[in-house]
Parts: sequence; C-alpha cells; structure tokens
Amino acid sequence: MKTNNLKLLKNRRNFYLLTLLIFAVSCSKSDDSVLAPTPPMGWNSWNAFQADINEDRIKEIADIMVSSGMRDAGYEYLVLDDGWMAPERNEQGELMADPVKFPGGMKAIGDYIHSKGLKFGIYECRGYLTCQKLPGSFEHEQTDMNSFAEWGVDYIKLDACYAEKNGRLSTEDLAVYHNAIENTGRPMILSISDFGNGAWAWGGKEYGQLWRTSGDIYPWIGSVYHCAETSGGDASIHPAFNGLWQFAGPGHWNDPDMLQVGNLEKTIQDRAHFSLWCILAAPLMAGNDLTVMTDTIRDILKASEVIKVNQDPRGHQGYKIYDDGDGEIYNKPLADGTTAVLLINKGDKDIDLTVDFEDIGLKDRQKVRDLWKKKNLGVFKDSYTAKNLTKDGHMLIRVGKKGSKPLEGPVAIPEEEYTISGDTYLSDAYYVVNRGVPPVYDRNFEGNKIILNGREYDKGLGCKSRSVIIFKLDGRANRFKATVGLDESSPENETGRFRILVEDAFGGKSIFDSKMMTKEDDGMEVNIDVSDLDFILLEFTGKQVLGNWADAKVVSHD
Ligand code: GAL
Repeated sequence: MKTNNLKLLKNRRNFYLLTLLIFAVSCSKSDDSVLAPTPPMGWNSWNAFQADINEDRIKEIADIMVSSGMRDAGYEYLVLDDGWMAPERNEQGELMADPVKFPGGMKAIGDYIHSKGLKFGIYECRGYLTCQKLPGSFEHEQTDMNSFAEWGVDYIKLDACYAEKNGRLSTEDLAVYHNAIENTGRPMILSISDFGNGAWAWGGKEYGQLWRTSGDIYPWIGSVYHCAETSGGDASIHPAFNGLWQFAGPGHWNDPDMLQVGNLEKTIQDRAHFSLWCILAAPLMAGNDLTVMTDTIRDILKASEVIKVNQDPRGHQGYKIYDDGDGEIYNKPLADGTTAVLLINKGDKDIDLTVDFEDIGLKDRQKVRDLWKKKNLGVFKDSYTAKNLTKDGHMLIRVGKKGSKPLEGPVAIPEEEYTISGDTYLSDAYYVVNRGVPPVYDRNFEGNKIILNGREYDKGLGCKSRSVIIFKLDGRANRFKATVGLDESSPENETGRFRILVEDAFGGKSIFDSKMMTKEDDGMEVNIDVSDLDFILLEFTGKQVLGNWADAKVVSHD
C-alpha cells in the first residue's frame, strides 16, 4: 500500500500544470459574498466539555478568547455544541435553551458573545434527535433556522445522528437546510457534521461551507493522524486522488474534525496536529479548556506564521508529495508565490527528511523560513533537509520568493475520469468515498483468484470485515451487475452481507441486500436498475470472512 502510494506520488510529482479550474477557484476569494473564504476559525465546546456546558462557562470562554489574544489571532466563532437545549420543544414547537444551564436563553448568550467581538455558533442535528438524544431538527427545519436567525447565530454545526431514519438522501436533506437558512435572510455558515460520509463527492459545497471527512477525533495522536489522513491521504478516497485537496477551496473546506491541541499527551504532538491542520487548510476550531490553557498551548494556537498558511487567501489545500510510511511531506502553494512545506515524522525512529525543490515547482537556490521559529534559515540549493526529526517531530517551512508568480499545484483528477459511464468494471474505476477497509482489485482480499460457485473471475472487488465505497454514476449507467458471495477461504459458519444503497449511508435507501450469507451459500446474481442514480454505495460487512463482488460492473444498456 505504502509502496503504491510512493509510486503514485512519484508519478504525480512532475505534474505542475495549473489548471484553469484551480485558478478560477483561487480567484473567487475576492468575492465578499463567499461565506468562509478561508477556513473558519473558532472554539467549540465539545472536545473540552462534551455536553457539560452552561452560561457561566461559555461567558468565561468568550472572555478568555479575547484576553488570551485568540480572537485577535483569528478565532472568531464560539460554537456551543450538543447539550445546550431543553429536552422538549415549547408549545409552538420551537427549540428552547436548557433552563438550568442557560437560564438567560440563547439570544442572551449570543448577545454576550457578539459583545466580545466574536461570532455565535450553535449545534443541531438533522435527525429527529441529536447525538445526545435532545430534540433534533428533522421536520422542524424552518422553525429552527428561524430561531437561530432570531438569536443572532452566525454558524450552524449540523450533525447527522439518526439521519438515516429521515427517508431523504443527504443531498435532499441538506437542500432543505440550505433553503431554510436562505429563507431567514441571515447569512449563517453551515458546517456539515456527517462523520465523513462523502459530502466532498456528492456536492456538499452546494449546501454548506465545510464538511467532515472523518469520524470523531479523540485526544490521542493516533486519532489525530487518522483524521488527517482522511483529508490529506487515502483514508477516505481512492489513492489516485492523493487526498481530498481538489474538493476544497475558498467557501468550501474539508474538515478532519475539531482541534485536540492542548488535549494531547505531548506538546510536540499538539504542534504536529496544528501543523497538519494548517497545511491541510482545515477549519481551526480549538477544542481545549481555555480556562486552564498553558502559555505553551496558547502560543501554539496563536502561532501567527503557521495560521497564515492555513488562512492563505488562495485556499489551496496542501497535498502529499512524499510518504514512506513514517516520514511524510506536504506542499501548499500560497497566494504570494511562495509555498509552505510540512515535513513530519510519524514513525518511532529519528529520521532526516528532504524536500526536493523540483517536487514543489521550484529549482536552484531558494530562501527557506522556519514558520514555527519565525526565523530565516538561509538560501538552499535544490533541496532542504529537516534533520533528526524525532517521533512526531516536524518542520513547517516556507520556500521561495514572495511576490513571484503563484506556484502551480498538482493536476486535479477530471470529473469525467471518476464518473462512471458506459460499460465499466468497478475495479477499473475510481471510487470517490471509502469508509472502512479498502477493497482489493480483481483478486480476493488475500490476493488470490476470485472463485465463486467453482467459477474463476478475472474481475471484481475483494473485501474483508467492513468495506464501504461510493461510485459516482451521474445518471449515466443503467444496470449494476455482479455475482456476490463469500470466498471459500472464509471460516465456517461466519457470515457476511452485501448491500447496495443509493448515494450514501444516510439516505437509507437500499436497492440490494444479500442478507447474511455463509460460504456454503451459492454466489448470488445481482442485476439491478441503477438508471438515474447519481451515486451508488457498495457495502460489505462481515467479521473474519472475505466477501467477493465478482465481475462487478455497471452497464449502459439492459
Ligand atoms: C458527534 C459529533 C461530535 C459532537 C457530538 C455531540 O456526532 O461528531 O463532534 O458534536 O456528536 O453529541
């Protein structure tokens, strides 16, 4: 896997043709009507306090956001996550603040936040309940958006617990919110919190300004690195894309979840975490308890030259140019003609990491500046080496000359290439969302021939444990065909299940279900109508068993 990555990155390293599209996106930053022209910055209550929030605590946080200098460093949104609301709506069906936690009501807390020069963010959920089982917005969408607008809300984090019960595809569901927000006449950012369900692929930017690329982040470095990989690596998309960079830009951002800076075991990890979020143009929503924040953590969160990389108006998400399984290098071309480079060691051994200037679109002698130390390191020829990087050690540097022509980024995969049309084996196509274990192509999961009912197959997808992948059809296919079954090498009596859903998991619209199968069951023929569908989701679930989607293809005829 890692060798493939490396090959891929090497193949891609010479592609430095800036597409018109990227230019168009980067130029749109000057449009004032764009909400979130740079990744939103703020503080959110969840990672520090979960549902244990109240009026005094939030006011204290607002005060500290000002006194610590965080507001002036760019952290403008103060977002109240789950737990602010009363367990029941009022007689008019409106949401109410929890009367014990927020006796002054939500408008008052919003006014306080605004009085500090901050913006007010709030949490809701598009299911009938929130994740904490408080009243969700399903079938109350307009009422709730109206309440938020009246309270002066500027930012809505919209979660997705129970949304699969709504009977609406995510695109249908979010269109309801988008329209309801527009109807209020108040600009409010919509942060799509859907655990990385694939909003980048199915058009999240039509509805909101940011979308999660991962499940929840936790306060340990392994979780931080995993979340970073969902946006900057292969963890949520086909490796050919080299991360999700091509889906981000001014007004629409990939969100690998809120910051755990200040909550990790070691300071070097807090800094590595912040560096990754900055190079990935991720929203910077601090999630530490500001009332006990040390000066060191405050200084990490306020590191001005590092934040500048994140907030660069060009809005190009950083992308990986090197990965050997331990050392990784990311590049983020900036608006001023320089480029930011993160060199990071995720492995246990100390290493040196070298960035070749050729791989970031530069050559010969280049100025290098250390953005954490705010120090010019000098002029280097052809490459720069970060020496003796310990575990989680990293350097964030800026390379090049300010004021030169903006550097080109990599070439985006054209939509045509990942939209499946004509007769196509799915193992020859790029999936746009991956959750779980990625499939093996044209082999069973262990790399052997796919065999079902005694027949050998040259094509197909081999899965194990849980594999969920989404393909974009854009209404261009008619039927999906395959033979599905458990591989003969699977353990006796263990079960596995194949399902196909429309769009994504929250749509809840299943169009094929093998039900539980064992390896004793014959392979099952699938031949279903997929005409007019924009996306299909293939899901295999089983514990130790191997599942085969033999001969899986879409065809454009019956
Ligand atoms: C989760 C969400 C978290 C937090 C929590 C609140 O689904 O991913 O970020 O909002 O719900 O209950």
